[in-house]
Amino acid sequence: MASTQVTIAGIHFPSCVFNASGPRDVTLPELREIGASGSGAIVMKSCTPEPRDGNEEPRYADLPLGSINSMGLPNLGYTQYCEFPKDLAEYGKPVIASLAGMQPSDFPVLVEAFQKSDVDLIEVNLSCPNVKGKPQIGYDFEASDAILSLLDGLGDKPLGVKLPPYFDFVHFESMAAVLKKHKIAFITCVNSIGNALVIDAETERPVIRPKGGFGGLGGQYLKPTALANVRKFHELLGDRVQIIGVGGVYTGTDAFEFVLAGADAVQVGTAFMQEGLGCFARIDQELQAILDRKGYASAADAKGKLKAL
Ligand code: DHB
Repeated sequence: MASTQVTIAGIHFPSCVFNASGPRDVTLPELREIGASGSGAIVMKSCTPEPRDGNEEPRYADLPLGSINSMGLPNLGYTQYCEFPKDLAEYGKPVIASLAGMQPSDFPVLVEAFQKSDVDLIEVNLSCPNVKGKPQIGYDFEASDAILSLLDGLGDKPLGVKLPPYFDFVHFESMAAVLKKHKIAFITCVNSIGNALVIDAETERPVIRPKGGFGGLGGQYLKPTALANVRKFHELLGDRVQIIGVGGVYTGTDAFEFVLAGADAVQVGTAFMQEGLGCFARIDQELQAILDRKGYASAADAKGKLKAL
């Protein structure tokens, strides 16, 4: 059988298929369930300095081809997520912290705390679309650069950046130039398409309440955009930054497409929300089968092997 094990920033992952930050990963019992599942890692909910209840409900809706959410960063506060890795060590897989500052000066505080914790990797979220009055940092290249400058040299644990989707080659190049200025081991691309609006024609209302119905679009709607982002950043950054692809991974074929585009691993968000914990082992087995059928010894062997048409 082909191997789906992978190494990211020197950390071994038993599978390159694991959960995305966001769905069902806020509390320790939820994180334990991910630990006991087929997920190749345990990615924790993006956290903030203080605990947050998040936005008003309904704030998540399933859609025919995915999901929309405006959760508003409900989380227990970062001190809890610094403690959880001790409880999660028994699962023998990497634990990834995700952090989201409410202001630039929060980022070094959170990163320093996780540098002292037992997490394996730190994902710096520059792309949350759902906090009222706060823009997505990743669309402001100077602000992104300034925040990453605050994080340089804070510790030895590998740092990654969770990026929003970009839609213009100039923007890919601008963000790639920012990333090259800092010690960034991996990028996770992409976050949801921010500030989408889904309307229920029968009720004549949006399907979620916060922000007048505007929220992050995930699932199948996102996959071509996510693949384009993985491909473009792989072209621009090459071997110096590893890539975790996320956006519309429901099947092993989806995961294989991300690997061809240049991903080392994939995260599963909406499909985990909709299918539950069984999705990880299923997608991993489907990916192994497609790698076998195509003669690749491992997911790593297929990385970036997208052919020209
Ligand atoms: C939330 C949504 C995101 O896409 C994200 O990156 C972080 C937080 C949220 O609404 O909770």
